[in-house]
Amino acid sequence: MSEKLELLYLQEEDIIKAGVLNMKECINTIEEMFRLIGKGDYLMGGPNRNDHGLMLWFNNDDTFKNMPKKGPDRRFMSLISYLGGDFDVVGNKWYGSNIENLNKNLPRSIHTFTLNDRETGAPLAIMSGNLVSSARTGAVPGVISKYLAKKDAKVLGAVGGGVINQSCIDAIITTVPGIEKVILFDINIEKGKEVAKKIEAQINRPVEVVDDMDACVKQSDIVTVATSGSVKPKINEESFKPGALIILTGAADLSAESYNKHRVVADLWSMHEKWLEDGLAHPEGINSILDWTMSGQLLELINDGKFDSNKIDDIGDIIVGNKEGRKSDDEVIIAMTGGLSTEDVAWGYRVYENALENNIGTKLPLWNSSHLI
Ligand SMILES: NC(=O)c1ccc[n+]([C@@H]2O[C@H](COP(=O)([O-])OP(=O)(O)OC[C@H]3O[C@@H](n4cnc5c(N)ncnc54)[C@H](O)[C@@H]3O)[C@@H](O)[C@H]2O)c1
Repeated sequence: MSEKLELLYLQEEDIIKAGVLNMKECINTIEEMFRLIGKGDYLMGGPNRNDHGLMLWFNNDDTFKNMPKKGPDRRFMSLISYLGGDFDVVGNKWYGSNIENLNKNLPRSIHTFTLNDRETGAPLAIMSGNLVSSARTGAVPGVISKYLAKKDAKVLGAVGGGVINQSCIDAIITTVPGIEKVILFDINIEKGKEVAKKIEAQINRPVEVVDDMDACVKQSDIVTVATSGSVKPKINEESFKPGALIILTGAADLSAESYNKHRVVADLWSMHEKWLEDGLAHPEGINSILDWTMSGQLLELINDGKFDSNKIDDIGDIIVGNKEGRKSDDEVIIAMTGGLSTEDVAWGYRVYENALENNIGTKLPLWNSSHLI
């Protein structure tokens, strides 16, 4: 007879109580995670150990009437990893994304997150994953800005006013407190105005809404880009301010000149390279990854021999001191964050620890005694 096995179930309201929205803590956690990545104390999926996740790729055809069809930001994805250091735990973020959700009063993507004991594989917790994911996604540009923004950065440009960019803004303001104002461009101007009203009070700084991308980028020392849908934001080389830090959390349209002229920093470049491998193995070739990966354009340039990927540095290497940080006040840096499964493990685990400590959540039995033992 085996022992009873229990796990902690945390619904969204529980993880809020357990501090998931504490951006300062989240940033510290994500920075700690990048340090572990820089040292190599992690495993992500696949034989190269750097796989973003396993995706269900949808088709265009309608042979089977119920099978999901390809569409903007439409996918299912499972992101698995082990993270070492004090975390020493395994996790899996599992989500579905469909832009049509926004018309049904649902978030674009819906996430669940599981933590497992690294020895036995037993589940420790299952939690609502949306806020873990949006907080950790925002924290990454926060950490990148801490290390790579120019010292006197005062203006933050935001391209896209969705939930992810709101989290990015929150994080960047936290690590670069000298930011005096935010300039927001959302393709949906009315939504942009609503978001501006909402976040102005939260971040305690003016948020100016502009109706043109260049007006946003031209004035900004840091630009955070996170849009969804079929229209990729076009960021013109001529608009970059000297010393600007451009952070791509979602896909954007930049010129080959911009990539070649400026420094490029990634969250973990080997993970982006795996996307290229996947794209080349897909029946539609590299086109299959261009509309949803923020590095797709650059991967295409690399594949065509028009960009040398050795030029790209990882933020983890910069944080542990193996690579140089900002080289001058005028240096323009383009940073790409594809999203690492270790980010969910890091922040999900801290939230789980807080929940345990404060008796938050519901204990659920997996079994009273395993039928197999
Ligand atoms: N890198 C990561 O770790 C990571 C994690 C999660 C999400 N993402 C990406 O972040 C992006 C944003 O996600 P979200 O959940 O906030 O989406 P969302 O749909 O909630 O919001 C996107 C916003 O972008 C606006 N927009 C669309 N096209 C635009 C354009 N061309 N110019 C300006 N604004 C435009 C929309 O009007 C909307 O307000 C997605 O591409 C998603 O894949 C990245």
